[in-house]
Amino acid sequence: MNIAIIGAGNVGQALANGWAAKGHTVSFGVRNPDSAKAGAVDRSKFKVLTNAQAVAAAEVVVLATPWTATRDAIEACGSLAGKTVLDATNPLLPNLGGLEIGHSNSGGEMVAQWAPGARVVKIFNTTGFNNMTDAVYGDEHASMLYCGDDAQAKTAAAALASELGFDPVDCGPLLHSRYLENFAVMWIWLAMKGGLGRDVAWKLLRR
Ligand SMILES: NC(=O)c1ccc[n+]([C@@H]2O[C@H](COP(=O)([O-])OP(=O)(O)OC[C@H]3O[C@@H](n4cnc5c(N)ncnc54)[C@H](OP(=O)(O)O)[C@@H]3O)[C@@H](O)[C@H]2O)c1
Repeated sequence: MNIAIIGAGNVGQALANGWAAKGHTVSFGVRNPDSAKAGAVDRSKFKVLTNAQAVAAAEVVVLATPWTATRDAIEACGSLAGKTVLDATNPLLPNLGGLEIGHSNSGGEMVAQWAPGARVVKIFNTTGFNNMTDAVYGDEHASMLYCGDDAQAKTAAAALASELGFDPVDCGPLLHSRYLENFAVMWIWLAMKGGLGRDVAWKLLRR
């Protein structure tokens, strides 16, 4: 599958490496493909392009940009109509201690507004990038909570999460981004302030 990842930071690179290892073709969309920062990407494995170039050939587009840059990043992609868009962003406050929006709106819903016609799935936002590199804890596979309104896009998102070792959990419509984005705040607090460190992940138990 051709995957475009918008944002070549912690999340973008963790996802890219995992999917490349599974045989997917991954390109990065960055603000300036010739910049030194974008130069940190392994160009023997990944193409480093503008957002619009990366999106053009992609079936799946991942948003892995800081929240404050996300609207601009989407605009620089051009039309995302018909594409599966995996939104890993979180509308975090600058101190990471809460969300800029919530209760009656969410980052996931705003992304859907900014990318009309895109099949948006909120996913990869509730856990640290280190878990995207290694989602397995002993015999357990960390849960990956996701939500969205397009069944086909959700199936593709769940398959891509499984390939990284996650146990995907369908959390309903895109409106539930309002709740999934709070999981991110709680994970950040546990990891950074609660003394647990980054090697923790959510797990939904079933019986
Ligand atoms: N870090 C985590 O563990 C984690 C986990 C889950 C979700 N998230 C969420 O995922 C998102 C990314 O987090 P991160 O830790 O990967 O951030 P990061 O390391 O700061 O990377 C963000 C990347 O986005 C790029 N960017 C900024 N504006 C752009 C644009 N217009 N077009 C293309 N790329 C652009 C930045 O490029 P420049 O270098 O040019 O600025 C940077 O490479 C955030 O919304 C975060 O809340 C993070």
